[in-house]
Amino acid sequence: MELIKDTAQFEEIYHKSCHQPELFWDEIASGFTWKKRWDKVLSWNFTEPNIHWFVNGKMNITENCLDRHLPEKSDQIAFYWEPNSPDTSPRSFTYLSLYQEVNKVANSLKQYGIKKGDRICFYMPMVPELAIAILACARIGAVHSVVFAGFSAQSLADRIEDSQCKMVICSDYNDRGAKHIAVKQVVDDALQFPGCQCVENVLVYKNTGDEVTWYPERDLWWHDVVPNQSNECEAESMDSEDMLFILYTSGSTGKPKGVVHTCGGYMVYTSYSFKQVFQINEKDLYWCTADIGWITGHSYIVYGPLLVGATSLMFEGVPTYPDAGRFWEICDKYNVTHFYTAPTAIRALMAYGNSFVEKYQLKSLKVLGSVGEPINEEAWHWYNEKVGKNRCPIVDTWWQTETGGIMISTLAGITPSIPSYATKPLPGIQPVLLSADGIELEGNEVEGLLCIKFPWPSILRTTYGDHERCRQTYFSLYPGYYFTGDGAKRYKDGNYRIIGRVDDVINVSGHRLGTAEVENAINRHPHVVESAVVGFPHDIKGQGIYAYVIPVDFNIDETILKKEIAEVVAKQIGAIAKPDKIQLVSGLPKTRSGKIMRRILRKVAGGETEGFGDVSTLLNPEIVEEIKDGAV
Ligand code: PRX
Repeated sequence: MELIKDTAQFEEIYHKSCHQPELFWDEIASGFTWKKRWDKVLSWNFTEPNIHWFVNGKMNITENCLDRHLPEKSDQIAFYWEPNSPDTSPRSFTYLSLYQEVNKVANSLKQYGIKKGDRICFYMPMVPELAIAILACARIGAVHSVVFAGFSAQSLADRIEDSQCKMVICSDYNDRGAKHIAVKQVVDDALQFPGCQCVENVLVYKNTGDEVTWYPERDLWWHDVVPNQSNECEAESMDSEDMLFILYTSGSTGKPKGVVHTCGGYMVYTSYSFKQVFQINEKDLYWCTADIGWITGHSYIVYGPLLVGATSLMFEGVPTYPDAGRFWEICDKYNVTHFYTAPTAIRALMAYGNSFVEKYQLKSLKVLGSVGEPINEEAWHWYNEKVGKNRCPIVDTWWQTETGGIMISTLAGITPSIPSYATKPLPGIQPVLLSADGIELEGNEVEGLLCIKFPWPSILRTTYGDHERCRQTYFSLYPGYYFTGDGAKRYKDGNYRIIGRVDDVINVSGHRLGTAEVENAINRHPHVVESAVVGFPHDIKGQGIYAYVIPVDFNIDETILKKEIAEVVAKQIGAIAKPDKIQLVSGLPKTRSGKIMRRILRKVAGGETEGFGDVSTLLNPEIVEEIKDGAV
């Protein structure tokens, strides 16, 4: 795959990708190893939806991540691993050693009865064994469902149950910053739920070696099972449209849904987008600081870099441990050339002042990336000046769990970066802005709902076990389009700026949460009658969580109730969903049809005191003043 060389070539390729999409993707897909070539590049409709890329093609993504590189790169490092504590020894894997480890784990999974199509749940810290086991799953055609290891036992159980996982792979403990987290205990708790009877085995990687409760009929130690296996394992032949993984993500309603990605299209798109956006070359050292528990980790820690044969770095820890210079220390230690992180991390590090970043040279850096939420101008400039020393292009990459790969972004050093703009769609991506009534807005200087009007290879195919939910969420509101849930503006030269979610999804430190999900958790507290959750602007997190809660009675200790509410949320969802602010109210502003007027709640949470418009049509207009007066 050739790298795009300049703006003119980008324009030309983009034009071709829109006018001859099948030819365009046919040529790109031809650069991979297929066991059988496809009969047809694409067959699709957005009504059901029913989307097939590389129809009847057979392949295995791990052959493309590993085997394909062995003739030339067996001794090249596939990834370095930097542990949480700088005092622990780092590790590294060459393409050959990674290939062998993956095969050993793949054989282990087979030994315990895992077959093509079986689902395996992961609940692991950022250790190499996580990436290895994910690839092992893909090697034998099993479906991975990685759950971020900060979610609670309840959330983990919900996800295990929804996709009926046969196995869970976890570690004993996790050292993250100064915290020592009992990972296996959370798995044990989750498996107590009746819906988790489907799990037959738990494969446990000994990470810290502290004592764990052991269930001999169910639990397996990684070190007992894996080392004895053969380091060869034939890669299962997968159809392009066979499921590769499920990743749960939050929406505006109900429980998180399992976004499904399939093998062929995901492989082609993550690889293409990785290479073009970051402009990766031999000898580069790429580091993405995300957690593999999110889509960024799937596409741009595990699959993308390995598919292009890059060398990358995986980091177990957090940016502020042992101090706020850790990221920069690691950049200098490994001579990182490409650094990809989230605005929330940049803002958090900015808040520590410049002394930490100024201690390091950062000479090796060539490209900086941002992902997960809008990057505000202040953070953009700090990143550019203090980290990139004004010489590294910044790629602000807009995409989603559902899109599988980066959709709108600058191509590093090729198309211009503009502070706080994602800029232009990648080749093959056809975004449009719609008015609220579904009319395509033409020209520049317009703002609307961001939709995509033509499929790209890594678009989600369904939501696990509930195709109708997929149709309703993404394809029904504006027929003929994929609806992203984001609002955006298009400026001159067709550059996009992402404004943020237009639905009831909030983005807290780059973590995506549904307000309904948090409300359901809060409502489980016995002293809560009803609640409403909205996002509010937060200096570091981007958005914080503001909860309005109606207590059973006001004759209570407010501090204790608020603390208990936070605990309930942590127990139901995970600590990431704890409200930043809780306001006790006697009622919520409702329309006559009983719908909560979130617009008002968002304004109060955002610190606004006027501009509420006419509230007289509400069922309970008097509540607005009470809420304004009691804002926290
Ligand atoms: O609102 C957008 C925001 O994150 C949402 C997707 O979240 P998730 O599926 O968790 O994936 C995050 C990592 C790809 C989007 O709907 N978002 C993501 N990237 C950006 C962004 N908002 C603005 N700018 C971005 N670069």
